[in-house]
Amino acid sequence: MPSTLPSTHAPASRREPQFIRVAETRREPLHFFLDGQEVAALQGDTLLTAVLMQQRRVRESEFSGAPRAGFCLIGACQDCWMRTEDGKRVRACSTLVTEGMRVLTRLAAVEAGAADETGDAR
Ligand code: FES
Repeated sequence: MPSTLPSTHAPASRREPQFIRVAETRREPLHFFLDGQEVAALQGDTLLTAVLMQQRRVRESEFSGAPRAGFCLIGACQDCWMRTEDGKRVRACSTLVTEGMRVLTRLAAVEAGAADETGDAR
């Protein structure tokens, strides 16, 4: 009997949000850059919230390339590590998004950003 549930293997659009804001909508807006694209968030959002308001992943697994979206949301599981464009690691669930912050979610972009002028990874 065919299932009427959506397949768990069907790829979701990268730009389909994981989160939908239902409260605290009057905080001051800010902008940050997600994979080079300027997007909006609100003051006081964690980076995890800000990213998942835009799409369904915060990063790709460095082992499998599978999408990751955080797990514990309290700084304990290590599932939400992201990279800034200048190569710093940030834990998205315990880092507040800031005006002009520039973060990467795609492994290829992270690896390209982590290469120096000689093309060698840092
Ligand atoms: S979601 Fe678990 S450490 Fe951030």
